Amino acid sequence: MQKGLFITFEGVDGCGKTTQIELLAEYLSLQGKETLITREPGARGLGEKLREILLNYPGEVSPNCESFLFLADRAQHIDCIIKPALEAGKIVLCDRHTDSTLAYQGYGRGIELEKINYLNEIAVSGLKPDLTIVFDIDVETSQNRVGKNKDRMEASGIEFFNRVRNGYLDIAQKNASRVKVIDASDRIENIHRKVVELYCRL
Ligand code: TYD
Repeated sequence: MQKGLFITFEGVDGCGKTTQIELLAEYLSLQGKETLITREPGARGLGEKLREILLNYPGEVSPNCESFLFLADRAQHIDCIIKPALEAGKIVLCDRHTDSTLAYQGYGRGIELEKINYLNEIAVSGLKPDLTIVFDIDVETSQNRVGKNKDRMEASGIEFFNRVRNGYLDIAQKNASRVKVIDASDRIENIHRKVVELYCRL
């Protein structure tokens, strides 16, 4: 039985979600809450090996293979890290989760969305985030933030990232009660205030 809270953070590369996760974790720890910051792909152990392949493999990677690797990492992450933390009553703050696969491999790479939804369901064995925050930002700004030193995924190009961004907005529209969008071009303190407001509504 789940006793904790599960919050996921989403958005294109360079949207600033990692900073916001850290700020929320600080806020929660001041409130005496036990939190776990984690990420996909590659929280730890086996996941780190999968992350290394996903972000740095130099040869061809087919979209289906890429999807299955992200999903394999997710299944391991849910079973071995997220579920135990939730059962222990922790607030789990997860940098990327199911909506990343939908946005990147679905909207971005063009794999059918129903297929991704089905595979995501298998990977998470029925567990859903209590809240998902999408940090929305225009792709040019986010690409400038990422800089020149790009990993395999980050090197996918402006058109790809525009599809991913619009995919996230579509996901938010279709899942309005779970997924909330915040303008990530705003000042860090303002974004943090909005994140805290969303948390407080849970
Ligand atoms: P990471 O360095 O963690 O990026 P960020 O700091 O922006 O979160 O790399 C994760 C990359 O993997 C990122 O480009 C998004 C991509 N990704 C997918 O394409 N599908 C997925 O299911 C997940 C979890 C990540």
